[in-house]
Amino acid sequence: MVILAPMPGHKVHIKCFGCQMNKLDTALVTTALMDAGFSLTAGVKDADVVLINTCSVREHAEARVLSHLGHLKHLKRQKPNLIVAVMGCMAQRLGDKLLAHEAVNVVCGPTEIPRLVDLIGEALERNAKQLAITPEIRRENESHSASLERFESAYGRDGVDDGSVPGQAFVRVMRGCNNFCTYCIVPHVRGPEVCRSPQAIVEQVRKLAEQRVKQVTFLGQTVNAYKYRAGEKTYCLADLLSLASQVEGIEWLRFVTSYPSAEYYDEILAVMASSEKVCPYLHIPAQSGSDRVLHAMNRHYTAAQYLELLNRARDAVPGIALAGDFIVGFPGETDEDFEATVKLVRQAQYRNCFIFKYSPRPGTAADRWHQDSVPAEVKQRRNVELLAVQEQISDVLSRQFQGQTVRVLVEGPSKKAHVNPTDGADNPQLVGRTSGDHIVVFNGPLSLAGRFADVHITRTSPLTLFGTLAPAPALR
Ligand code: SAH
Ligand code: SF4
Ligand code: F3S
Repeated sequence: MVILAPMPGHKVHIKCFGCQMNKLDTALVTTALMDAGFSLTAGVKDADVVLINTCSVREHAEARVLSHLGHLKHLKRQKPNLIVAVMGCMAQRLGDKLLAHEAVNVVCGPTEIPRLVDLIGEALERNAKQLAITPEIRRENESHSASLERFESAYGRDGVDDGSVPGQAFVRVMRGCNNFCTYCIVPHVRGPEVCRSPQAIVEQVRKLAEQRVKQVTFLGQTVNAYKYRAGEKTYCLADLLSLASQVEGIEWLRFVTSYPSAEYYDEILAVMASSEKVCPYLHIPAQSGSDRVLHAMNRHYTAAQYLELLNRARDAVPGIALAGDFIVGFPGETDEDFEATVKLVRQAQYRNCFIFKYSPRPGTAADRWHQDSVPAEVKQRRNVELLAVQEQISDVLSRQFQGQTVRVLVEGPSKKAHVNPTDGADNPQLVGRTSGDHIVVFNGPLSLAGRFADVHITRTSPLTLFGTLAPAPALR
């Protein structure tokens, strides 16, 4: 690897698509770029480098990036020295096809991010195209893992504006995925599952706490399957949560995403029930309510087993907030299969649910074996119907908060703040989340961002609670 001298003065504009994994990768790379002397710019026009972190999970996610690259192609005709770097899952999936795009100078897969700063440096120096993707990504490679680990564990944020929400940080506990759900591109672009050591994870949590981080979210594609053998002991997610909850300064711990499996489940629920720091929230995607479709998706549970897991969660952690994901229009999904999904959603009583239309991903088993047989309009109708069922449930659950006072971790100004007139610049509309991940909108001073506040709920909608700052906000 060529280590280049720091490059002071270069301005980089960063745009991030995709899931929390990508947000974390963006934060890591931003920190590395700052260390190398780059500065951030909010505008594309005055940037020397545009860096885009990309997602491949559905075709639509890729289409958004391609349209962005289309704009950059025009901009580059006026600014030929502009360097465009594409990182993330789409970089790994498309590799040199993406590099062939007129706008693109650097393509770097998610498992190659430790090299990204050098690649950008080389591109700036020589204006030559640079490609870094992992060949045979499914093969475990220890030196590769070690380099990712070194890159990741150096992450301490240290005052860098890395795009994170104030007071919050993500910590990866495992990379990759071994599940191969038949519709999913993730194992093909993020490689095999590798769990990080508990020591490295807890050390990182400690560093983040020193940076006034109050909430840490553990990330893994199947985070509840975390397993790490050290001598006689095998650590599971419950152990990580217990260890991290002893770190002074950390007030809330979350973890996403959970796979519906019984392994370590009771242990995780027990630590959630007993520790005030572990948020009573479980994101546990079902994907479908039809056993036939679940089998075709290579999901290893039935709808009945899934519901049993939810019941166990509710028994162990009263008041727990549950969230799910569903795919509608998987190949061969009949009206009957879809009705089974609707039934499951009604029974599950999720606080919130994310619903996606099936999108065939090249190279996945579902795409190789099946026609994308459900017509677009049927997918659309099922999507709308399922959303409506969930909205009703969310509405009823939200109303229970009317008149209550809830504690939130404040994120910052609400996105709609500039549309909704607020009562003064000193008291803008803020947004925060409860430990159960309910979104709460209220007016208060900006200085609350990254802190806890108590909010009295005066109005509710299916997805948002509205309220006023309680008289004596508990500032911590
Ligand atoms: N690892 C997580 C989530 C991975 S992707 C998990 O297993 O739960 C996030 C969500 O995108 C999935 O839960 C699924 O609902 C959806 N998804 C993944 N691939 C998809 C595809 N090809 N078409 C539509 N939705 C998809
Ligand atoms: Fe994709 Fe399934 Fe792995 Fe989740 S568990 S990342 S849906 S293959
Ligand atoms: Fe995440 Fe999208 Fe990759 S969901 S893991 S950024 S394909």
